[in-house]
Amino acid sequence: MQMKIILFGFVASLMSVQTSMADDSPLAEQMDVMNDAYKAIRREKDPAKGAALAREAQDAMVKAITETPELVKAMADGPEKAKASAGYRKMMGQLIATLADMELAFLDNNLEKVQEIVTSMREMKKKGHDQFMEEDE
Ligand code: HEM
Repeated sequence: MQMKIILFGFVASLMSVQTSMADDSPLAEQMDVMNDAYKAIRREKDPAKGAALAREAQDAMVKAITETPELVKAMADGPEKAKASAGYRKMMGQLIATLADMELAFLDNNLEKVQEIVTSMREMKKKGHDQFMEEDE
């Protein structure tokens, strides 16, 4: 009986370690903020609210650019890893600039431009995830 309790405790603690590893890396947390703002932006017509959402997404990506994707962390040290890491920051930098353009488009009350930017961000997301996100996420 005591053995069973010890075994149960062991399995339970292993499971909790696994869950905490799977989600909620600091990068994943910022990506979640980005995702919520991006979804809301697509429906937003009010310039001030839209600009605030674009700013919120920017702030999250400014934090995310200082992180390293798990996929890059797992690479062996060397030039390929350094290039992947720089490539990640370049793409994130472009995303931040695009979000600033979106904020400006809202402030100019140019909803047509906002929609163009939303479309271009879909492509950036796909490219970023194809390159830097682990398959099972
Ligand atoms: C519209 C733009 C984007 C949206 C809405 C978005 C959204 C998301 C979401 C919802 C996740 C899953 C988070 C979770 O597991 O809880 C994620 C993860 C991730 N995203 Fe993005 N993303 C975008 C652009 C990008 C770009 C441009 C890059 C790379 C330059 C990128 C790199 C990643 C990586 C590496 C992960 C996995 C997190 C980790 O390694 O821990 N994302 N993203």
